[in-house]
Formats: sequence, structure tokens, C-alpha cells
Amino acid sequence: MATGMPECSPAMLVAAGLAVLAICSYLATIVVRHGAAGAQRYPPVVGTVFHQVYHLRRLHDYFTDLFREHATFRLLAPGGRRQIYTSDTAVVEHILRTNFANYGKGASNYDKMGDLFGDGIFAVDGDKWKQQRKIASYDFSTRALRDFSGGVFNRNAAKLAHIVAGNAAAKQPMDFQALLMKATMDSIFTIAFGVDLGTLSGSDEGSRFAAAFDDASEFILLRYVDAFWKVSRFLNVGAEAALRHRIKVVDEFVYKCIRARADEMSDGSKAHGTGSKDDLLSRFILATNSETGKVDYKYLRDIILNIVMAGKDTTAGALAWFLYMMCKHPEVQEKISKEAAGAGDATSSIDDYSRSLTEEALNKMHYLHAALTETLRLYPSLPLDNKECFSDDVLPNGFSVGKGDIVFYAPYAMGRMERLWGEDTIAFRPERWLDECGEFLPESPFKFTAFQAGPRICLGKEFAYRQMKIFAAVLLRFFVLELHDKYASVNYRTMITLYIDQGLHLTATARC
Ligand code: HEM
Repeated sequence: MATGMPECSPAMLVAAGLAVLAICSYLATIVVRHGAAGAQRYPPVVGTVFHQVYHLRRLHDYFTDLFREHATFRLLAPGGRRQIYTSDTAVVEHILRTNFANYGKGASNYDKMGDLFGDGIFAVDGDKWKQQRKIASYDFSTRALRDFSGGVFNRNAAKLAHIVAGNAAAKQPMDFQALLMKATMDSIFTIAFGVDLGTLSGSDEGSRFAAAFDDASEFILLRYVDAFWKVSRFLNVGAEAALRHRIKVVDEFVYKCIRARADEMSDGSKAHGTGSKDDLLSRFILATNSETGKVDYKYLRDIILNIVMAGKDTTAGALAWFLYMMCKHPEVQEKISKEAAGAGDATSSIDDYSRSLTEEALNKMHYLHAALTETLRLYPSLPLDNKECFSDDVLPNGFSVGKGDIVFYAPYAMGRMERLWGEDTIAFRPERWLDECGEFLPESPFKFTAFQAGPRICLGKEFAYRQMKIFAAVLLRFFVLELHDKYASVNYRTMITLYIDQGLHLTATARC
């Protein structure tokens, strides 16, 4: 399980307090300088970046409050860069599509993410990004990968349901978020590497890798709020020393998998584990081999690990919030259960039912699709995202952005804006996504930003929906889920993804 951010929070708060005092005069200088910028108009300043540390426990609600006052605003930050935050759909469209070439991950993100993400699709821009996007988009659209991944999701959904059935029979509550993390990790790892990691079944090696991977991604996030992380990295102390150790564990395991698969392929022997060569690693080995004639281990490590990273916590988090919503809205849970029973082979066992959830069956489940989308509107897996500006620009709202400035957009806050979704924006209402015939009605991706938008829109969106629909249908077809403690408050933990703090403890009762 990932190391908790709260362990670091008190120290960070003290450091932030000292830092606030130390740089007050510096910020005052910036205010004067920015105020005197002349013809250029910048968004209003509503605080400093240090307020984020102060509000860390409720960071996204803090931003939501600020966005209710200003659609676009600024937080003052040390250094020359401006930090601009927006919930304006026209600005979001501008940075993600219209002026795409002028905004990207940039050096600041690459700097922080590079040790773990390397040159993978998540961390890079320009030609490096284009090349990976092209190969991966092609692979993701092939029938073979879709069928292979569908089978993996069906098997893991059934495995998860058997674990739930055991706990239901024993009347034992369970942490569903932890179970979903394992199930999605096993799924994406099999699709990526062609190997069953077996964390759901308790494999030691798989669990060690998964824990190191979770810790590493959390330590990477700390770099975004720790101004001194480079010093700690240089001295190899604290979180940075722990990060280095976790990356070593991750790398050893990943290189072992790549080497084994490359050897098998060069021997011409059959792939092990799943008995298939439809996994992404095999496809990338073939693609890179045919170009260069040799296996580039570092390149393969980066690209495949990025896809594991992209598909794991995002999907698990979305499913955990979805199940939380199902417990809060039992009438929606009932409707989905009925829809699920009608979509697959309702009279069969868990395994047969799961297998019967073909793409055709899933496409019929409009209400489930709407409920998952409504969950992501209110609880987007990536609640806050950013792009670096590469050259001076003017946004559609008339505000200027300078080279090197960072523009943040906020899916979590945007999902809660009355001006975007109406007076009932806070209400969980899947019906808002359905037309009069009950068919799913998509929204502009610049308004519903959970999957980003434009040329860098999530590559795994269809995969994610398929997996979430299979898991949700199998669980709700066979069980009634309830919160173990109906009165306990549920909050998020500030991590890269929107994680439920303290987990999601549910009880399950088998449906007759
Ligand atoms: C509910 C589940 C998911 C959500 C909400 C989600 C959301 C996102 C978001 C917001 C981004 C943009 C991140 C950024 O660059 O700043 C992204 C990118 C990406 N996602 Fe997903 N994702 C999900 C599942 C998946 C899955 C299952 C996969 C793979 C099988 C995947 C693969 C990717 C890849 C490869 C990118 C990088 C695209 C690029 O930079 O061109 N995602 N996703």
C-alpha cells in the first residue's frame, strides 16, 4: 500500500510556514512588478502557492471555492513563472486544442517526473511524444488487443467477484479500494507485459512490485509541493532516498519481464503466462526490432511503464468512487443491477456471466455508462492538470500568458461549477447524460475534462470504460453493496489521482 502523504504533512506545513515568512517581501516585489506590467492583463491574484500546502487536505475544494469567485485566477509563486488556474472552457480548449503546439508537459514536469516516467508518453512532448502516440494509438485500435484485453477484464472481474462472494458469505467487510487497486493492476500488467502479476491472489513478488510502484508515484507527487526536492535528491535523504529505492525495485522487476519476453520471442518459443503474444510489450518489441534490429530495454521500460501508470490508479479510483456513489444512491444501484442482468447471461455463474459481457452487451448498458461518467464528473481521477506555455500568448479571455508560465485546469472544480452544469451541479444524477430515448449523450471534452481533450486526450478511454463496465456489471449483478459505516465521512487524499482517504469499506450481500 502506498505511503501516506499525511506522514509528511506536518513537516511540510512547518516548512511552508517558514517559507511564507521568508518570501513575503519577495512576493511583494513580484506583485509590484506584475502590477506594473503595462498593457498586458493578467488574471487576478487570489493567493500564493503556499496556500495549497495549507489547504492540502481539501486542496480541490479550496480550488472549487476560488473558481466560484473567478473563472481564471493566479497564485503567486517564487521564481519567474506565473501560475494560472482556469475553469473557463474556452481557455481549456485553447491550451488543449486550438493552440496545442504552444502548450505541453514542458521542462518543469519532465524534471519532476523523469526519474520514474523516463521518456515515456506521459512525460515528453514533441517528436518523442508523437512517435509513441502513433504506435500506441494504432495498437489500442486493433481487434487483437481489444479482444485480448476484454478477456483479461472478464477473468479479473470474475476473480474479484469470487473474493467478494467469500467475504459476503462470512459477513466480512472489505476495503474495496484496495481490492480494485489490485484488480486493475493485474489487468493492466497482463495487457502491458503479458504476465499475470497475481496481486489479487496474493503473489509476493507482484505485491512487492505494486507497492514500490505506488510509493514511487506518491513520492513523485511530493516534488510538486517540496521546493527543496533537488537538494534532498542530491543528498539522497528523506523521501528522495525512498523514491530511489522504490524505483530500483520497480526497474529490476520490469527489466526482468522485458528480458524474459524478448528472449522468448527471439527463441521463437511460445509466450508464457497468458499463452498469447497480444500484449503491448510483445507488440513494441516487434515494432522496435523491425526498425533497429535490437531490443531497446530502456525505451520499452519507459513506454510500457507509462501505460501501466496511466491505466491503473485512474481506473481503480474511478471504480471506487463509483461504488461509493452506488452506496449513497441505492436506487441507482438497483437500476444498474437490472440493466446488468438484462445485458449478459443473467441465469449463469459468476464466470459465465462475466464471459458473456461482450463488447456488444456492454454497448447496450447506457445507464451504467452514464453513471460512470457522472462519477468522473464529480470525482475525476486526475483532479488537477497543467500545461507549460512555450511562448508568449493571449488566452481567449484576454489574459496574457508568458513563456514558461504554467496553466492549470481543474476537472474536479469544473465538475462542480453551477455556471457549467446548472443549479444541481453537486447532485449525482446519471440522467443528465441520457437523451429522451435513454441513450448516452456525450458532452464537450472541454467541459467534461476527466479524460483531458484535444490531441493528447486519454489514449485508454475506451479501455477504461470497458473495464469499468465489466467490473461494475459483475459486482452489481451478483451483490448488493453497502457502506460498512453509513455515518463515516469519506474524503479524498491529495495524490496524483483522487484516492479515497482511509479506503472504501463496504459490506456485500449476495443477490438471490
Ligand atoms: C477512468 C480511467 C482513466 C482516466 C480518468 C484517464 C484520464 C487521463 C488523463 C486526464 C490523461 C491526460 C494526462 C496528462 O497528460 O496530463 C490521460 C492520458 C493517458 N491515458 Fe488515461 N485515463 C484513464 C484510463 C486509462 C487507461 C486504462 C489507459 C491504458 C490502457 C490509459 C492510457 C493513457 C495514456 C497512454 C495517456 C497519455 C496520452 C498522451 O499523452 O498522448 N488511460 N488519461
